[in-house]
Amino acid sequence: MSKIAISVPASAKINLFLHIVGKRDDGYHLLESLVVFTKYGDMITVEEASELSLEITGEFASELSAFPKEKNLVWKAAIAVQKLLDKPRFAKITLTKNLPIASGIGGGSADAAATIKALCQLWKLNLSTEELNKIALQLGSDVPVCLNGRSAIMSGIGEEIEEVSFNEASYIVLINPLLALSTAEVFSEFKLKLTDDKNIEQRNDLEQIAIKKLPIIAEIITALQATDGCVSARMSGSGATCFGLYKTKTDADSAKKKLKIIFPDFWCVSSKIL
Ligand code: C5P
Repeated sequence: MSKIAISVPASAKINLFLHIVGKRDDGYHLLESLVVFTKYGDMITVEEASELSLEITGEFASELSAFPKEKNLVWKAAIAVQKLLDKPRFAKITLTKNLPIASGIGGGSADAAATIKALCQLWKLNLSTEELNKIALQLGSDVPVCLNGRSAIMSGIGEEIEEVSFNEASYIVLINPLLALSTAEVFSEFKLKLTDDKNIEQRNDLEQIAIKKLPIIAEIITALQATDGCVSARMSGSGATCFGLYKTKTDADSAKKKLKIIFPDFWCVSSKIL
């Protein structure tokens, strides 16, 4: 009998706005962020096996394979789920890494969330939403919202999720200069005085810090804003991926083509908002 393989998509997570509203005693920042997901993303496939293993394929496999598997959020998620089993079970996990790493679009978090879902299905584990969210938050602040997988306002450090409908645009262009930014480093440089523009209703409070580190981000946002039909353009998460929102697929696809000409070496995709 052939083994059953279960595949779960790990969509990119885009912070359409990210407002920092406070700081906890442990140093984590309190956020208010509108998050949407895109059709484009990674993929997690699991199948029953005699030991736990992780194989990485896809466009960004080599970047990720340079790190030990124990540091990979997919591995950490698998260990966390395995700990909940009565009897030991194992799986061969395949991650198809299509999203650039350390790029502000929650690739690692989405992979972790998809791993939890896929293994719960494979091992027939019926966990409550509370139990799932507890594991998710321990893996990272963006994992609960990725587990939920629908447009939402997330607050706290990511544990409070309120689903919202987002209708301002249906298509999105993502562009990344293929230069990684460390989330911890960008957050650590946040000072309230850096964002005097609190009167701007929607913003990303980490954008100016990321631009100081990688000035190209400002050029990318300007180029996105200049494309036909762009509703708004901004940076996602702690960067460096920037996005442009569009009402039509035609506008998004032609914006992608134009950006590819301006920035031929950058990663750039056009996708649908889920
Ligand atoms: O939770 P995650 O592992 O994704 O966060 C990476 C780092 O980013 C944290 O160690 C913390 O320094 C910073 N961070 C923060 N406030 C948040 C989320 C992350 O300061 N809400």
